Amino acid sequence: MNPLRLRSIDHTGMVVASLDESITLYRDVLGLPLVHREMLTEQGVEAALLNIGDSHIELITPVRADSGVARFLAERGPGLHHIAYRVNDIDAALASLSAAGMRLIDEQPRTGIRGSRVAFLHPKAVGGVLTELVEPATHR
Ligand code: CO
Repeated sequence: MNPLRLRSIDHTGMVVASLDESITLYRDVLGLPLVHREMLTEQGVEAALLNIGDSHIELITPVRADSGVARFLAERGPGLHHIAYRVNDIDAALASLSAAGMRLIDEQPRTGIRGSRVAFLHPKAVGGVLTELVEPATHR
């Protein structure tokens, strides 16, 4: 069995210029329930989660000019930013990827939205797609 065990798409991350305006679009126009909003100081972003089936849309906007998301927004404008796969055991998943020679942005998990544990894989190692692993804090 592959020890990675990617279980599902936890969320798709979109970089937005205005969190309020984007929440209005996704909640009020597209009809997705807003379930969470959080300032992630360490990552220099504010984020919101909207439910879609068993997955989420994650809207992220920079709150610091030196964050990676701020650079993304400045260089490419708003748009698709990353895909996040849900795992049960992020430590085992990272160990498995390290052993396979995967280039990681995060060698160790960091704290993500809603108390989850997250780690990013380098986009150059995943066909140009910034890829996140998420071990949720709780069942939802
Ligand atoms: Co994410």
